[in-house]
Amino acid sequence: MSIIKTLETDIKKIIEDLGYSLDKFTLEVSKRKDLGDYQINDCMNLAKAYSKNPRIIAEEIKEKLVQDYRLKNINIAGPGFINLSLSDKFLIDTINLLNEDIDNNIDKKEFKKIIMDYGGANVAKALHVGHLRSANIGEALKRLARKLGYEVISDAHLGDYGRPLGLVIVEIKNMYPDLPYFDINYKGNYSEIELPITNSDLERIYPVASLKSKTDEKYLDEARIITTKIQNHEKGIYDLWKKIIDISKKEIKEVYDKLNVYYDLWEGESDASEYIPELLEILENSGITKKSEGATIIEVKEAEETSPMPPLLVVKSNGSYSYETTDLATIVERKKKFNPDEIWYCADERQQLHFEQVFRATRKAKLIDDSVKLEYIGFGTMNGEDGKPFKTRDGGVMSLNSLIDIVKEETRKRINYDIVAEDKVEETVEKIAISALKYADLIPHRTTDYIFCPEKFSDVEGKTGPYLLYSTIRMKSLLLKSYEYKQDDYIKINNDTDRDIVLELLELPNILTKSLESKSLNDIADYVYTLTNKYNKFYSENRVLLEEDKQLQESWLVLTKVVYNTNILLLDILGLMVPEKM
Ligand code: ARG
Repeated sequence: MSIIKTLETDIKKIIEDLGYSLDKFTLEVSKRKDLGDYQINDCMNLAKAYSKNPRIIAEEIKEKLVQDYRLKNINIAGPGFINLSLSDKFLIDTINLLNEDIDNNIDKKEFKKIIMDYGGANVAKALHVGHLRSANIGEALKRLARKLGYEVISDAHLGDYGRPLGLVIVEIKNMYPDLPYFDINYKGNYSEIELPITNSDLERIYPVASLKSKTDEKYLDEARIITTKIQNHEKGIYDLWKKIIDISKKEIKEVYDKLNVYYDLWEGESDASEYIPELLEILENSGITKKSEGATIIEVKEAEETSPMPPLLVVKSNGSYSYETTDLATIVERKKKFNPDEIWYCADERQQLHFEQVFRATRKAKLIDDSVKLEYIGFGTMNGEDGKPFKTRDGGVMSLNSLIDIVKEETRKRINYDIVAEDKVEETVEKIAISALKYADLIPHRTTDYIFCPEKFSDVEGKTGPYLLYSTIRMKSLLLKSYEYKQDDYIKINNDTDRDIVLELLELPNILTKSLESKSLNDIADYVYTLTNKYNKFYSENRVLLEEDKQLQESWLVLTKVVYNTNILLLDILGLMVPEKM
């Protein structure tokens, strides 16, 4: 149990031993530091429950608390607030415990097995800015959940099964009608065919095909037919589809690597196809499907519901499956292969309705136990200065790679070329730029939109990724410079700046828990910034290397080590990358 939680549990017990029962107990961080480090606000509620004077209850509690060596300056204020501070001895013990193992500052949760579905890149289409948020938020949540003791299986869940692939293939057929893939009499081995198409070709082909299909009914029809052929694994078309997937997946992996985003599974929507017959059977037996204009649907609207809730389309009238069907089949698959306690989906807020339909149909058909939680984790958009989703200058969709390049150019202006070796420049620029982008993306609550501002994101001053990286590297370099000095024991507290850092460190477990509950990283992003600022204040006030009081110097180095390790832990949860130098 974390240090602060242990203290809270002990105080709760003291109050209960006095005969008062409490559901839960937390020490509130005091807003008035002159009154104390924390406040206990429970006496007023207890007074009501036990028909007593709150000040009398506060007096009773105070009398017990004064005997605890961990606390000092216990005062009663107003109608019955108890203000208190932590003793120096306790703060010193705290740092030494954290220095032993930073995990002493983490409250592990009860074990759960989670499947996380995030990223969701679409094959044969360039990753765009929207995919950044899913991958970034999803990856950080995965890291957080693991740190807090859950088993998390992450799945990229590639979009590889729908109409976009049909469109791409129609266009390829127009460009290269003689490719053997389109010849049903072809007797050779498809895997030996050289496809004259690269990933960048694919990225160019899709927008062209999509545009054509908007005005050309015949073209769209053909794409529909081809989509069904892919889904039916028809010879030739299916082989071409597989080839396209391979080309595209390779590129997608490279972008995710660059973003420091990693998956246990690289499944696609298509991998669920194996489970579609089973799904259809369960749906059929559950009696919840209906025929409607040649299609098979499930009504998911609740009786008194007034907001729109269209039926879920299971099989389209042309025989192909919808995006919803693949998600339902994926639930069947995941239950079978992993039997998870929860499934989390991290996707754009515009997909809220989709997931609502899928979840409702899952419950109606009992595809998975009711105890298994299905959670949709939506997020807002990254916008341009005009407040609309960020676009290229000519109004097109901004690819993720171009976005990263813009931030890289800003970062390039700001690194210190005197200390970064020439052959390390590219790697350093990329790490910092990605971290700048990712941190800026995690600062707002996930459901809040924000504005893309590369100059601001890459600034080394202010609430930015580069500021955190720079400060963390500086802590490390102080520790390296003083490696010959003793760095074992935190012996004494110098002043309020030092105290303030220790108090901040004690807050960490609460922040991690809060973030896990809200499934948003903003609290952690705030916290690491606040802690870093407090440390930097200390750094500017003291000359650690020149300090003559050796006990104080040793204490300062231990404090630095603990803050450094905490920063590394948090930056790693957020998925940021710390370069050697910058
Ligand atoms: N490929 C989808 C898109 O780009 C996101 C996939 C989200 N996950 C899911 N299981 N549907 O919009």
